[in-house]
Order: sequence, then structure tokens, then C-alpha cells
Amino acid sequence: MMTKKLILLLACVCVAFQTWAQEQTYEISIKKPKKEIPVQSNMYGVFFEDINFGADGGLYAELIKNRSFDFTNSPTMGWLTYGDVSVETTGAPFERNPNYLRLTNSGLLTGTGVINEGFRGIGVKEGEMYQLSFYARSIDSEAKNLRIELISSGAEIMAHVDMEVTSDDWGKYSVELSPAWTDPHAKLRIDLRSLGSIDLEHVSLFPEKTFKGRENGMRQDLAQALADLKPGIFRFPGGCIIEGNSLEMRYQWKNSVGPVENRPVLENRWNYEFQHRFTPDYFQSYGLGFYEYFLLCEDLGADALPVVNCGIACQYATEEVCEDLEPYIQDALDLIEFANGSVTSTWGKIRAEMGHPEPFNMKMIGIGNEQWGEDFPNHLEQFMKAIYAKYPDMLVIGSSGPSADGEQFDYLWDEMKRLDVDLVDEHYYKDPEWFLNSADRYDSYDRKGPKVFAGEYACHDHPQKKNSFYSALCEAAFMTGLERNADVVHLATYAPLFAHVDAWQWKPDMIWFDNLRLVKSANYYVQQLYAHHKGTRAMDLTWNKENLTGQDGLYASSVIDDEKDQLIIKIANTSKESKTVNFDFSKLKLDKNSGKQITLMGDLEVENTLDNPDWIVPTEKAISISGTTLKAELEPESFHVFVLK
Ligand code: AHR
Repeated sequence: MMTKKLILLLACVCVAFQTWAQEQTYEISIKKPKKEIPVQSNMYGVFFEDINFGADGGLYAELIKNRSFDFTNSPTMGWLTYGDVSVETTGAPFERNPNYLRLTNSGLLTGTGVINEGFRGIGVKEGEMYQLSFYARSIDSEAKNLRIELISSGAEIMAHVDMEVTSDDWGKYSVELSPAWTDPHAKLRIDLRSLGSIDLEHVSLFPEKTFKGRENGMRQDLAQALADLKPGIFRFPGGCIIEGNSLEMRYQWKNSVGPVENRPVLENRWNYEFQHRFTPDYFQSYGLGFYEYFLLCEDLGADALPVVNCGIACQYATEEVCEDLEPYIQDALDLIEFANGSVTSTWGKIRAEMGHPEPFNMKMIGIGNEQWGEDFPNHLEQFMKAIYAKYPDMLVIGSSGPSADGEQFDYLWDEMKRLDVDLVDEHYYKDPEWFLNSADRYDSYDRKGPKVFAGEYACHDHPQKKNSFYSALCEAAFMTGLERNADVVHLATYAPLFAHVDAWQWKPDMIWFDNLRLVKSANYYVQQLYAHHKGTRAMDLTWNKENLTGQDGLYASSVIDDEKDQLIIKIANTSKESKTVNFDFSKLKLDKNSGKQITLMGDLEVENTLDNPDWIVPTEKAISISGTTLKAELEPESFHVFVLK
């Protein structure tokens, strides 16, 4: 039996040990590395895919779902029809979207009309202007009256306007609506008031205020959240959607340019991908197409990184391989011409006609997404040959498949080296332990091979895969390894980007939104802290002469920003104890009183929500250094960025 004395003694030893543990100071040295490690100016970016209602129903500001009545097998999905309404195709104004509606009013008490439900409702704000447009014709020579209404979720009329369809030729009609109050779940009703019939096609409703005031533009708040990240690159349009479950269902950029009315609607593969998140009303209108993507990149100041299909459909699905690769390669070459070609070139002319005679200055292209097996390197080789022959400066991005390691990963990396592709896209959706154990992942990567594009990654905090602070902390810790190895890791993009709270398929996601609001996740703030403080060259940061890659739960890296004249330190304390660190700058000359410390911390389980968006947000305080050192207390489970002049 333990005596009381022994218990007391043990307790004292424990307290003494705890005090020692708390008082241990980590002496961290920061100096110039032997060989300069430049940080790419576009290193941290975003990956955009139309998943979770990310484009249609999200970033793309269009408020009408199924605006051209061409959802496959369900031409009136999203529309409630009453009275006499039929789907027609004869004499359609847009041959690639052949359906239109015929509304006939024969005087029945029911009336005749259609109501659009929007994307889980139509979000409208009091006093703002909304631009409604549609194509219509009267099918006899008589003019027809229509009443257009915005109806609230409580079934009240929020705005209305009367219009006349005057001609029996197809024509475009436009009008503005301004709702009397705000409602995230409004509807649009078009009611035929005259006797007789009209044909109706491509009904569109846009907020007047779009990002940068662009026509056919982006939802202002969502695009602004992207701009606030200061992304260096913008990868689009996917992901799995460029692969398609079959080759026929792949994303084809040529279908996404030219007049929006004639861009053929495509079923979104995410509408049936996950049975537990079945979303049968998810289609791609292509309204946010490649022209709009390039324009958005320009507006964001980000380099465009378009991805094209490599002649292989999703290998988790059909694994279909094309018989003739030539058209796929031609699509890639034509895409470069569309982005950069002169206004007299075939595709440059189309860009100019769409409103952008200046080139978009595309510098890189992704070939394929998550491919594996021998076909991929074979196809890639042919793409590279054709692209480099015509565009020798274009950066070509290959792939190491869907996994972060394993047989296929190793095989593909060897192949990527053999082909000498410029960058290799790596994907890792992994648990917290993986992120915490992988901060040294790139320390031993081959410096002579292709560079790394960490193209899709996110910490999946099981079981709920929440955008918890813990997931963000693990990513922050891991990313010190990206920064330290900026000579190998040239680009990095978290994934996926957007998710509609009422229509998502995949989580975690960086930004969540409903029809009127958005919330930036803790993961968003980690990405933002890195992107805003990326620096221009990496420094050598060590503890006990070793990189800090998780010893006692600490992870750190440092960069110099030569343009802003700053030394920046990023440090994550993932342990449950607070830590005292002493940064030693004896080799650097620093301004003692012009520093700041930015901290991100909170309960590990917590995630920001639409109702509580500020639970986990960066906080900032001024700091000063004494002598040639900076002493800092790092709270348990916290991430910090120190910025010193
Ligand atoms: O980001 C979601 C999906 O994850 C992407 O479409 C795909 O590339 C990956 O498997």
C-alpha cells in the first residue's frame, strides 16, 4: 500500500515536472539558408469545382434554376407549372438547348404560368435591383400580357411588373425587379394574362450588383471572399467533373463559350455521386464558362490554371479510354489559342467577340485529374509534345493520381520524371494524424525532378469531416512543410472551395454559404494567413539544429518578404500545453518596435457557422523584440504568424 508520504512525494515530483515542462523555452534559430529558396509569387491559390452548388446556385450569380428547360429527362425540373404548359422544340431559338415552354391561356380559372424555385429558393435583398430577361414569342400576331412577380417564402408578392410580348418572332425581353423586403427563399412567377399562347425560353434573373459589375457575372460576396484570399492561382473547372463518368459526360470547354443561351446544359456528376447526398436537380448550365473563369482570374489577380480531360473518363466510374486522342489534344491547343491567341486566330477571335481582345496570358495547363495506370503517362506524353511544339513556355501539369502514396503514386511519379513534366499535381484528403505526421513530407523530395502542385488537400477530421478548428490547425502545421520546401512545392490549393449549406455533397469545404450569406471556415483563415504572408524566399528555421516538424507538437517555418521588407514566422503549437519560444535573430537586423503577431485559436471542435461566423477568426496584436530575440508564449493548440520589419 502506498503511504501518504509517498503520494505526497510523487505529487511534488509531478508538479515540479509540470513546472519544468511549462518553463522549458524552445530556442529557435532563424537564418539565411545556404542555398536560396525562392517562394513562387503565386504559390497559394484556390481550386474551384462545380461541386456543392459551387457554380450554378453559388458563385455564378444566376438565380433561376433550369433557365432553358433542358435538364436531361426533366425539362421542367425546378419549375412549377399551372394551367396549360407544354415543352416544345420546334423552331427553338438556340439549337444546343432545344427545349422551350409553350404557355396557353384558354380562359380557365386556374390561369396559366410557371414558378421557378431557384436554387433552394431565390435569395433577394430589399431595395436591390434584379435584372430579369427571357426570350419569348407570341404564337399568333397578337401581343400578349405577362405579369412577372417575385413571391416571398410566405407567398406574398414582393415585386411585380407587367410586360407585353409583342412579336411572333423570338425576341429578348428585359425588366428590372426590386423586392420590398429581403427573403432568402423567394420564387419567380410568370403568369400569362392574355388569352392565347406564348413561347418562353431562357428565363434569367441576375442581381444588378455582381462582382466588379460584370454582366453574366459572379455573386458579389462569394467572389469578394475569393479576392480577400489574394489567390495566386485559380484551378478550374475541376476535379472529377473534367473527367466525367463517361467521356461523353466530361467537361468540354468549347461548350462553355459563346452566347450563354446556346451553351448546352450538362448533367453534373455530383448530382448522383453520393447516395446519401443525392442532388438530382444539379446540372451545369455552363453559364460560368471558360471565358468567365479567365475573366474572374483577371479580376482576382490570379494565374489561370485550366484543366482539360486527357482522353480518360473517371477511373472510379467507367474507366473509358478514348480511341482517338487527337481531338483531346486539339482541344488543349485550341484552349491556349482561346486564352492567348491573336484576335485574328480562330479561337482568339471568339474571345475578342466575347469582349476581351487582349490575351488572358494563360501560363499553365493541367492535363487530366486523378488518373492512374499506363494510359495516363502515354496520353500525357502526346499532349506535352504537341503543347511544347506550339507553346514552348507553357507549363504542363501532370498527376500522381488520387493518393498521397502507394504503388500507383510511385509509378506515376517515376513516369512524371521520365516525361519531365513541369509540375505534378498531388492530392491528399487525409486524417489529422496524417497531416501532423507529414510536415516533413517534402524535406526529402528530389530537387531535380518536376515541381509539386499540391492541387487538392484538406484535413478530414473524422467522423463528421467538419471544418473544425482542429482540421485547420493540422493544415496550418502541415503547411509549414510546404513553405520550408518552396523550392520543390511551387503551388498549393485547398479543396474543395465552396458549399451551399442546403445542397452540398462533400465536406469539408473552405467557404460555406446560403442564398444570401457566407461563412469563412477556420481553414479559410489558414489559407489566407499563408497567402497574405507568403514572402519571397524561405529561411532556415531550426530547433536543436533540426527543422521543427512536430517535436513536442511544434511546427514552424519562416520566410523573408523582400518586397515588404519583412521577416515572417509561422508556428503552430498542436500540443495541449502552452509553449515558450525564443526566436533568435542574431544574424538579422530587425526593427524592434514594428512587429505584429496574428493568432488563430479556439476550441478544437468548433467550426464557424452562418449564424456564428466569427468563432474562429485571426486576432492581431503589436509586439516588440528585445535585443536580438523575440520571446513568445504560444497557447495550447494555436497557430501564429509573426510579422517583423
Ligand atoms: O474535391 C472534390 C473531388 O475530390 C475532386 O473532384 C476530385 O479531384 C477529388 O477526388
